[in-house]
Amino acid sequence: MRAFVTGGTGFIGGRMVERLLDDGWDVSALVRSPERAARIRDRGATLVLGDVTEPETFEDAVKGADALFHLAAYYALGVSDRELMMRINVGGTEAILRAAGAPVPRKGRGDSSVPQGLRTRGVTSREMDVLRLVGRGLTNADIAKNLFLSRRTVETHIASLLRKLDAQTRAQLMKEANTES
Ligand SMILES: NC(=O)c1ccc[n+]([C@@H]2O[C@H](COP(=O)([O-])OP(=O)(O)OC[C@H]3O[C@@H](n4cnc5c(N)ncnc54)[C@H](OP(=O)(O)O)[C@@H]3O)[C@@H](O)[C@H]2O)c1
Repeated sequence: MRAFVTGGTGFIGGRMVERLLDDGWDVSALVRSPERAARIRDRGATLVLGDVTEPETFEDAVKGADALFHLAAYYALGVSDRELMMRINVGGTEAILRAAGAPVPRKGRGDSSVPQGLRTRGVTSREMDVLRLVGRGLTNADIAKNLFLSRRTVETHIASLLRKLDAQTRAQLMKEANTES
């Protein structure tokens, strides 16, 4: 039986990997740093280099596992970086669950409030999420990663924004985003 473990370089995940190996499991461990993972590798774990915020790095390994232990977390006292914490702890957990085939609803509504000027032009909250990231110069691939959407969905939102804002180019969208923020 194969277990897939996240957080194997951490306090709890490290103990979990060792316990699973002691109990006879084959263990694949998602790790960001092979150096930090030397201990569990030497104990017999197979390392999967990746990150919980990058689904393409672990999807195949999760599919090949019989059990999943998700122990990776951005775990610190006091929230020092809320966005990072949300990306790793919430987005990362959702991505891991999706890779395991669990139904995880996507928040279709979006998180951004839409400024009045754009709301009257029909821009939705999710489109505003996308527009803000366009304004920060992110590529579609990075926007997809950031919002846990498919690239196709991001492209659809961009096409819709171009139409609603009467824009021809991404540069015009960037300008709109930066005018509004
Ligand atoms: N410690 C406790 O006493 C305790 C008690 C109850 C519950 N818990 C829960 O158990 C979980 C783990 O806690 P812990 O004490 O083991 O924390 P930890 O020692 O800080 O370990 C966190 C682990 O998560 C990994 N990680 C962080 N961000 C990642 C990312 N983006 N992609 C992949 N891996 C990532 C870290 O890898 P790197 O080595 O690459 O940083 C590390 O392996 C948390 O949810 C915590 O709330 C802990």
